[in-house]
Amino acid sequence: MKIARFSRIGFIMAAAGSAVGLGNIWKFPYITGEYGGGAFVLIYLVTVLLIGFSIMIAEMLIGYLGRADTVSSFENLAPTRKHLWKFGGFQSLAGLFVMIYYSVVIGWIFHYIVSALFGLPSSVDEAKTVFSTMLHSDFKTQLFYHTLSFLIVTFVIARGIKGGIEKLNMVLMPMLFIIVGVMFLYATTLDGFHKAVEFMFKPDFSKINSTAFVTAVGHAFFTLSLGMGSIMTYSASLEKNANLVKSSIIVVILDTAIALFAGLMLFTFLYEYGGQPSSGPGLVFISLPSVFYQMGMLGNIFAVMFFVSLAFAGLTSAVSLVEPMVQYFIDRFSWGRKKASVMTSLFFYIVGIVAILSHIDGYSSYLTWGSRNFFDWADFLTAAFMLPVGGLIMSVFVGYVLPKSQVEKVLRPQLGRTFEVWYFSLRYIAPVSLVIVMLNLVGVL
Ligand code: PFF
Repeated sequence: MKIARFSRIGFIMAAAGSAVGLGNIWKFPYITGEYGGGAFVLIYLVTVLLIGFSIMIAEMLIGYLGRADTVSSFENLAPTRKHLWKFGGFQSLAGLFVMIYYSVVIGWIFHYIVSALFGLPSSVDEAKTVFSTMLHSDFKTQLFYHTLSFLIVTFVIARGIKGGIEKLNMVLMPMLFIIVGVMFLYATTLDGFHKAVEFMFKPDFSKINSTAFVTAVGHAFFTLSLGMGSIMTYSASLEKNANLVKSSIIVVILDTAIALFAGLMLFTFLYEYGGQPSSGPGLVFISLPSVFYQMGMLGNIFAVMFFVSLAFAGLTSAVSLVEPMVQYFIDRFSWGRKKASVMTSLFFYIVGIVAILSHIDGYSSYLTWGSRNFFDWADFLTAAFMLPVGGLIMSVFVGYVLPKSQVEKVLRPQLGRTFEVWYFSLRYIAPVSLVIVMLNLVGVL
């Protein structure tokens, strides 16, 4: 099939753009806050190194060797039982399910950029009211910005790999790095910075329970964009002789660095201006705006910069969540790219409206099952269940199904003597940890 190729740097930017997302700047700081800081960060870092990194290489390898959409790649590569292995490629569906809420959150961010231009809430209580009013009663605003996010994502994907996805990432990612860099540097000059460093890097294992462990592992997957076919689909457009290991190292380092910088910066601001590190998902939408208010004029500028960087991070990840299914329709059904982009995006757009409604007073009771509403279920089922399943399928496929000689031929020259370490981690450490995570989730352990 004819896939347009990424340039070398374009691929790295796109893969990093996929990895660096809301997960890094919105989710990582608040879950670190919730689970008490240092020990959680340590587990997350070890997981990224031991499992995330191995699976990232495996996922890139499947795309690189398969050279097609995720379903066809599995089918092409499986030595036997092709009709069964092709289902492994349907892990890409998870990306669309993530988009159901991801696009809504990007919408909130757009709304916050516009609001920050006009003023900030003067206290945490006021910020709470602003956020909760938007969430529970302002359907129109949420719909408007969710529509905007849908239009941007569809437009970029419809323009293709080179003209759309690569271009978007080549422009937005460097800007994101600069914004986070500038804000981080400013944070280092404040007194709160030392407290933030201590909070994030001084482990206190009494705060760690099995939920914290599962969350850390799940987040390592989510933040690296693993288990949803994104990295696989992008790698199908790699040039021959591309260095998968080098690319993985760069992506993992960039992703981790942005998460740590964003975390340190946010906690510094919170400590400096009296916010709470453990304020949950509302951290960037509630605590932060009131902290920015206290900084005065500079705070206004920072608020806009911060939400713009969050929007950039979100959009570059969003295109990578949708692209795998778009490529699937192009390859398997011979749809044109425009049609495939619109049809695929319409799915998350329409179901995303249900996710918005699931917070709106009067509707939420119909869209809540157990302790979660529809929005939360979309988040929980994808991050906690679908991603680890996707990861498990890939580790089994590359570790046991693909002939070792085929894997070695590509990776031995790139990994050298560490090839065996990687192979071991992929065959044993990754699948065992993933199974434990999944069992833990369904409450078996
Ligand atoms: N890695 C993105 C983030 O941290 O926000 C989210 C994501 C993108 C997850 C693509 C999975 C994926 F396939």
